[in-house]
Amino acid sequence: PRKIIIDTDPGQDDAAAIMLAFGSPEELDVLGITTVAGNVPLSYTSRNARIVCELCGRTDTKVFAGADKPIARKLVTAEHVHGKTGLDGPVLDEPTMPLQTQHSVDFIVETLRSEPEGAVTLCTLGPLTNIGLAFQQAPDIIPRVHELVMMGGGFFEGGNITPAAEFNIYVDPEAADIVFRSGVPIVMMPLDVTHKLLTRKDRVKRMADLGTRPAIAMVEMLEFFERFDVEKYGSDGGPLHDPTVIAYLLKPELFKGRTCNVEIEVKSELTAGMTVVDWWHVTHRKRNAQVIRDVDADGFFDLLIERFARI
Ligand code: BDR
Ligand code: CA
Repeated sequence: PRKIIIDTDPGQDDAAAIMLAFGSPEELDVLGITTVAGNVPLSYTSRNARIVCELCGRTDTKVFAGADKPIARKLVTAEHVHGKTGLDGPVLDEPTMPLQTQHSVDFIVETLRSEPEGAVTLCTLGPLTNIGLAFQQAPDIIPRVHELVMMGGGFFEGGNITPAAEFNIYVDPEAADIVFRSGVPIVMMPLDVTHKLLTRKDRVKRMADLGTRPAIAMVEMLEFFERFDVEKYGSDGGPLHDPTVIAYLLKPELFKGRTCNVEIEVKSELTAGMTVVDWWHVTHRKRNAQVIRDVDADGFFDLLIERFARI
Protein backbone atom coordinates (compact mmCIF):
# COMPACT_ATOMS: atom_id res chain seq x y z
CA PRO A 1 0.00 0.00 0.00
CA ARG A 2 0.90 3.61 -0.58
CA LYS A 3 2.27 5.38 2.51
CA ILE A 4 0.43 8.55 3.45
CA ILE A 5 0.42 11.19 6.16
CA ILE A 6 -2.94 12.88 6.66
CA ASP A 7 -2.62 16.49 7.83
CA THR A 8 -6.01 17.66 9.02
CA ASP A 9 -8.27 19.98 11.06
CA PRO A 10 -11.37 17.81 11.66
CA GLY A 11 -14.08 18.98 10.69
CA GLN A 12 -16.88 16.61 9.64
CA ASP A 13 -15.64 16.42 6.05
CA ASP A 14 -12.10 15.76 7.29
CA ALA A 15 -13.59 12.92 9.35
CA ALA A 16 -15.17 11.50 6.18
CA ALA A 17 -11.77 11.65 4.44
CA ILE A 18 -10.06 9.82 7.31
CA MET A 19 -12.80 7.17 7.25
CA LEU A 20 -12.33 6.72 3.53
CA ALA A 21 -8.62 6.10 4.10
CA PHE A 22 -9.31 3.63 6.92
CA GLY A 23 -11.77 1.81 4.67
CA SER A 24 -9.01 1.30 2.10
CA PRO A 25 -6.18 -0.58 3.88
CA GLU A 26 -5.16 -2.48 0.75
CA GLU A 27 -4.28 0.75 -1.03
CA LEU A 28 -3.33 3.10 1.80
CA ASP A 29 -1.05 2.82 4.81
CA VAL A 30 -1.71 5.76 7.16
CA LEU A 31 1.71 6.40 8.75
CA GLY A 32 0.28 9.11 10.96
CA ILE A 33 -2.36 11.78 11.31
CA THR A 34 -1.04 15.26 12.00
CA THR A 35 -3.43 17.90 13.26
CA VAL A 36 -3.45 21.63 12.72
CA ALA A 37 -5.57 24.55 13.91
CA GLY A 38 -8.21 25.46 11.32
CA ASN A 39 -11.91 24.72 11.45
CA VAL A 40 -11.60 24.81 15.25
CA PRO A 41 -8.63 25.35 17.60
CA LEU A 42 -5.89 22.72 17.84
CA SER A 43 -7.12 21.16 21.08
CA TYR A 44 -10.37 20.24 19.34
CA THR A 45 -8.82 19.07 16.06
CA SER A 46 -6.42 16.82 18.02
CA ARG A 47 -9.32 15.44 20.02
CA ASN A 48 -11.46 14.97 16.94
CA ALA A 49 -8.81 13.09 14.96
CA ARG A 50 -8.57 10.57 17.80
CA ILE A 51 -12.35 10.28 18.04
CA VAL A 52 -12.47 9.33 14.35
CA CYS A 53 -9.71 6.73 14.85
CA GLU A 54 -11.61 5.19 17.76
CA LEU A 55 -14.89 5.26 15.87
CA CYS A 56 -13.21 3.25 13.10
CA GLY A 57 -11.52 0.85 15.52
CA ARG A 58 -8.09 2.16 14.49
CA THR A 59 -6.65 3.03 17.90
CA ASP A 60 -3.22 1.91 16.65
CA THR A 61 -2.99 5.07 14.53
CA LYS A 62 -0.42 7.65 15.57
CA VAL A 63 -1.97 11.08 16.01
CA PHE A 64 0.29 14.12 16.43
CA ALA A 65 -0.67 17.68 17.37
CA GLY A 66 0.87 20.40 15.25
CA ALA A 67 0.71 24.16 14.78
CA ASP A 68 -1.83 25.97 16.93
CA LYS A 69 -1.75 29.09 14.78
CA PRO A 70 -0.83 30.18 11.26
CA ILE A 71 2.76 31.19 10.44
CA ALA A 72 2.17 34.94 10.36
CA ARG A 73 -1.49 35.63 11.11
CA LYS A 74 -4.15 35.29 13.74
CA LEU A 75 -6.13 32.06 13.57
CA VAL A 76 -9.51 32.26 11.82
CA THR A 77 -11.88 29.36 12.59
CA ALA A 78 -15.13 28.06 11.07
CA GLU A 79 -17.49 27.16 13.91
CA HIS A 80 -20.29 28.69 11.80
CA VAL A 81 -20.00 25.61 9.57
CA HIS A 82 -18.66 22.86 11.82
CA GLY A 83 -20.08 23.79 15.25
CA LYS A 84 -18.18 24.50 18.46
CA THR A 85 -16.28 21.19 18.60
CA GLY A 86 -15.75 20.82 14.84
CA LEU A 87 -17.53 17.47 14.89
CA ASP A 88 -20.92 18.68 16.06
CA GLY A 89 -23.85 16.39 15.24
CA PRO A 90 -23.55 12.95 16.86
CA VAL A 91 -23.05 12.25 20.55
CA LEU A 92 -19.40 11.20 20.73
CA ASP A 93 -17.30 9.78 23.56
CA GLU A 94 -14.17 11.65 24.54
CA PRO A 95 -11.14 9.82 23.12
CA THR A 96 -9.03 7.58 25.33
CA MET A 97 -6.22 6.74 22.90
CA PRO A 98 -3.08 8.82 23.43
CA LEU A 99 -1.89 11.79 21.48
CA GLN A 100 1.78 11.31 20.51
CA THR A 101 4.22 13.60 22.30
CA GLN A 102 6.14 14.51 19.14
CA HIS A 103 5.09 17.69 17.28
CA SER A 104 3.45 17.15 13.86
CA VAL A 105 6.19 19.11 12.10
CA ASP A 106 8.93 16.95 13.63
CA PHE A 107 7.03 13.78 12.73
CA ILE A 108 6.64 14.93 9.12
CA VAL A 109 10.35 15.81 8.83
CA GLU A 110 11.54 12.63 10.52
CA THR A 111 9.25 10.38 8.47
CA LEU A 112 10.26 11.89 5.14
CA ARG A 113 13.92 11.52 6.05
CA SER A 114 13.63 7.93 7.25
CA GLU A 115 11.29 6.49 4.60
CA PRO A 116 12.73 5.78 1.14
CA GLU A 117 12.82 8.75 -1.23
CA GLY A 118 9.48 9.16 -3.03
CA ALA A 119 7.66 6.75 -0.74
CA VAL A 120 5.45 9.17 1.20
CA THR A 121 2.43 11.10 -0.05
CA LEU A 122 1.21 14.10 1.95
CA CYS A 123 -2.57 14.50 2.12
CA THR A 124 -3.62 17.90 3.42
CA LEU A 125 -7.18 18.64 4.49
CA GLY A 126 -6.68 21.90 6.38
CA PRO A 127 -4.50 25.02 6.45
CA LEU A 128 -0.97 24.26 5.23
CA THR A 129 0.81 25.50 8.37
CA ASN A 130 2.47 22.20 9.39
CA ILE A 131 3.71 21.50 5.87
CA GLY A 132 4.90 25.08 5.35
CA LEU A 133 6.87 24.94 8.60
CA ALA A 134 8.33 21.51 7.76
CA PHE A 135 9.45 22.68 4.29
CA GLN A 136 10.91 25.87 5.79
CA GLN A 137 12.82 24.08 8.54
CA ALA A 138 13.95 21.08 6.49
CA PRO A 139 14.04 21.85 2.76
CA ASP A 140 15.90 18.56 2.22
CA ILE A 141 12.58 16.71 2.65
CA ILE A 142 10.91 18.47 -0.31
CA PRO A 143 12.41 16.26 -3.06
CA ARG A 144 11.65 13.18 -0.93
CA VAL A 145 7.87 13.73 -1.08
CA HIS A 146 6.10 11.57 -3.67
CA GLU A 147 3.35 14.15 -4.08
CA LEU A 148 1.15 16.44 -2.04
CA VAL A 149 -2.59 16.16 -2.61
CA MET A 150 -4.50 19.02 -1.03
CA MET A 151 -8.01 20.26 -0.55
CA GLY A 152 -7.72 23.98 -1.00
CA GLY A 153 -8.35 26.97 -3.20
CA GLY A 154 -10.96 27.88 -5.76
CA PHE A 155 -10.75 29.68 -9.08
CA PHE A 156 -13.80 30.02 -11.35
CA GLU A 157 -15.88 29.15 -8.31
CA GLY A 158 -14.45 31.97 -6.15
CA GLY A 159 -14.07 31.70 -2.39
CA ASN A 160 -16.08 30.48 0.57
CA ILE A 161 -14.61 32.55 3.42
CA THR A 162 -14.07 35.76 1.43
CA PRO A 163 -15.22 36.41 -2.13
CA ALA A 164 -11.68 35.59 -3.27
CA ALA A 165 -10.39 32.90 -0.93
CA GLU A 166 -11.13 29.35 0.11
CA PHE A 167 -10.87 28.67 3.86
CA ASN A 168 -7.79 26.40 4.03
CA ILE A 169 -5.64 28.77 1.99
CA TYR A 170 -7.12 31.91 3.59
CA VAL A 171 -6.23 30.80 7.12
CA ASP A 172 -2.52 30.51 6.31
CA PRO A 173 -1.61 32.07 2.95
CA GLU A 174 2.07 32.31 3.90
CA ALA A 175 2.21 28.55 4.46
CA ALA A 176 0.38 27.91 1.18
CA ASP A 177 2.82 30.22 -0.59
CA ILE A 178 5.78 28.21 0.74
CA VAL A 179 4.18 24.98 -0.49
CA PHE A 180 3.27 26.26 -3.97
CA ARG A 181 6.78 27.69 -4.46
CA SER A 182 8.53 24.60 -3.08
CA GLY A 183 8.64 22.54 -6.27
CA VAL A 184 6.83 19.62 -4.61
CA PRO A 185 4.43 17.88 -7.04
CA ILE A 186 0.96 19.21 -6.10
CA VAL A 187 -2.54 17.99 -6.86
CA MET A 188 -5.12 20.59 -5.86
CA MET A 189 -8.79 19.92 -5.12
CA PRO A 190 -10.45 23.36 -5.20
CA LEU A 191 -14.03 24.39 -4.49
CA ASP A 192 -14.62 24.05 -8.24
CA VAL A 193 -14.59 20.28 -7.65
CA THR A 194 -15.92 19.97 -4.14
CA HIS A 195 -19.01 22.05 -4.82
CA LYS A 196 -20.04 19.30 -7.26
CA LEU A 197 -20.13 16.75 -4.43
CA LEU A 198 -23.22 17.56 -2.43
CA THR A 199 -24.47 15.36 0.40
CA ARG A 200 -27.83 14.83 -1.32
CA LYS A 201 -30.51 12.99 0.67
CA ASP A 202 -30.34 9.83 -1.46
CA ARG A 203 -26.57 9.63 -0.98
CA VAL A 204 -26.73 10.11 2.78
CA LYS A 205 -29.48 7.50 2.97
CA ARG A 206 -27.18 4.95 1.33
CA MET A 207 -24.68 5.67 4.10
CA ALA A 208 -27.32 5.36 6.79
CA ASP A 209 -28.43 2.04 5.29
CA LEU A 210 -24.98 0.60 6.07
CA GLY A 211 -26.26 0.63 9.64
CA THR A 212 -22.82 0.47 11.32
CA ARG A 213 -21.85 2.74 14.19
CA PRO A 214 -19.22 4.68 12.19
CA ALA A 215 -21.62 5.09 9.25
CA ILE A 216 -24.42 6.36 11.49
CA ALA A 217 -22.09 8.77 13.29
CA MET A 218 -20.92 10.02 9.89
CA VAL A 219 -24.52 10.56 8.76
CA GLU A 220 -25.21 12.59 11.91
CA MET A 221 -22.07 14.64 11.31
CA LEU A 222 -23.04 15.34 7.70
CA GLU A 223 -26.58 16.30 8.67
CA PHE A 224 -25.10 18.95 10.96
CA PHE A 225 -22.42 20.01 8.47
CA GLU A 226 -24.79 20.50 5.50
CA ARG A 227 -27.17 22.74 7.40
CA PHE A 228 -24.94 25.79 6.74
CA ASP A 229 -25.14 25.49 2.94
CA VAL A 230 -28.72 24.27 2.87
CA GLU A 231 -29.96 27.16 5.03
CA LYS A 232 -27.82 29.85 3.47
CA TYR A 233 -27.89 28.83 -0.19
CA GLY A 234 -30.78 26.40 -0.42
CA SER A 235 -28.34 23.88 -1.88
CA ASP A 236 -29.02 20.18 -2.23
CA GLY A 237 -26.72 19.20 0.65
CA GLY A 238 -23.28 20.26 1.85
CA PRO A 239 -20.10 20.08 -0.27
CA LEU A 240 -18.00 17.10 0.74
CA HIS A 241 -14.60 18.76 0.33
CA ASP A 242 -11.88 16.75 2.02
CA PRO A 243 -12.61 13.15 0.93
CA THR A 244 -11.68 14.22 -2.62
CA VAL A 245 -8.03 14.03 -1.57
CA ILE A 246 -8.25 10.38 -0.53
CA ALA A 247 -10.60 9.48 -3.41
CA TYR A 248 -7.99 10.82 -5.83
CA LEU A 249 -5.41 8.39 -4.45
CA LEU A 250 -7.84 5.49 -4.77
CA LYS A 251 -9.42 6.32 -8.14
CA PRO A 252 -7.69 9.16 -10.00
CA GLU A 253 -9.80 8.34 -13.05
CA LEU A 254 -12.79 9.97 -11.30
CA PHE A 255 -11.10 13.37 -11.65
CA LYS A 256 -10.10 15.68 -14.52
CA GLY A 257 -7.89 18.74 -14.45
CA ARG A 258 -4.98 20.60 -15.93
CA THR A 259 -1.42 21.26 -14.91
CA CYS A 260 -1.00 25.00 -14.48
CA ASN A 261 0.71 27.72 -12.55
CA VAL A 262 -0.86 28.60 -9.21
CA GLU A 263 0.26 31.55 -7.09
CA ILE A 264 -1.02 32.58 -3.69
CA GLU A 265 -1.96 36.17 -2.87
CA VAL A 266 -0.29 37.10 0.40
CA LYS A 267 -0.19 40.90 0.31
CA SER A 268 -3.62 42.28 -0.45
CA GLU A 269 -6.15 42.56 2.34
CA LEU A 270 -9.07 42.24 -0.07
CA THR A 271 -7.87 39.07 -1.79
CA ALA A 272 -5.55 37.46 0.79
CA GLY A 273 -5.38 33.71 0.29
CA MET A 274 -6.66 33.80 -3.26
CA THR A 275 -5.35 30.99 -5.46
CA VAL A 276 -4.51 32.65 -8.76
CA VAL A 277 -4.77 29.76 -11.22
CA ASP A 278 -3.39 30.26 -14.73
CA TRP A 279 -5.91 27.86 -16.26
CA TRP A 280 -5.48 29.28 -19.78
CA HIS A 281 -1.67 29.38 -19.63
CA VAL A 282 -1.62 33.10 -20.28
CA THR A 283 1.76 33.36 -18.54
CA HIS A 284 4.97 31.39 -18.83
CA ARG A 285 5.17 30.90 -15.09
CA LYS A 286 6.10 27.46 -13.86
CA ARG A 287 3.26 24.90 -14.02
CA ASN A 288 3.47 23.88 -10.39
CA ALA A 289 0.16 22.11 -9.74
CA GLN A 290 -2.31 19.70 -11.20
CA VAL A 291 -5.55 21.61 -10.70
CA ILE A 292 -8.68 19.46 -10.68
CA ARG A 293 -11.90 20.91 -11.99
CA ASP A 294 -14.22 17.99 -12.79
CA VAL A 295 -15.32 14.89 -10.97
CA ASP A 296 -17.61 11.92 -11.57
CA ALA A 297 -19.86 12.65 -8.59
CA ASP A 298 -21.78 9.38 -8.68
CA GLY A 299 -18.55 7.41 -8.93
CA PHE A 300 -17.17 9.37 -5.98
CA PHE A 301 -20.16 8.58 -3.75
CA ASP A 302 -20.16 4.91 -4.84
CA LEU A 303 -16.52 4.69 -3.75
CA LEU A 304 -17.21 6.43 -0.44
CA ILE A 305 -20.07 4.13 0.44
CA GLU A 306 -18.25 0.99 -0.70
CA ARG A 307 -15.29 1.86 1.55
CA PHE A 308 -17.39 2.98 4.53
CA ALA A 309 -19.04 -0.44 4.36
CA ARG A 310 -15.64 -2.04 5.08
CA ILE A 311 -15.21 -0.30 8.43
C1 BDR B 1 -12.27 23.40 3.70
O1 BDR B 1 -12.41 24.17 4.88
C2 BDR B 1 -12.93 23.40 5.92
O2 BDR B 1 -14.04 24.03 6.46
C3 BDR B 1 -13.25 22.04 5.36
O3 BDR B 1 -12.91 21.04 6.30
C4 BDR B 1 -12.40 21.94 4.13
O4 BDR B 1 -11.13 21.43 4.41
C5 BDR B 1 -13.28 23.85 2.68
O5 BDR B 1 -13.08 25.18 2.35
CA1 CA C 1 -10.60 20.39 6.55
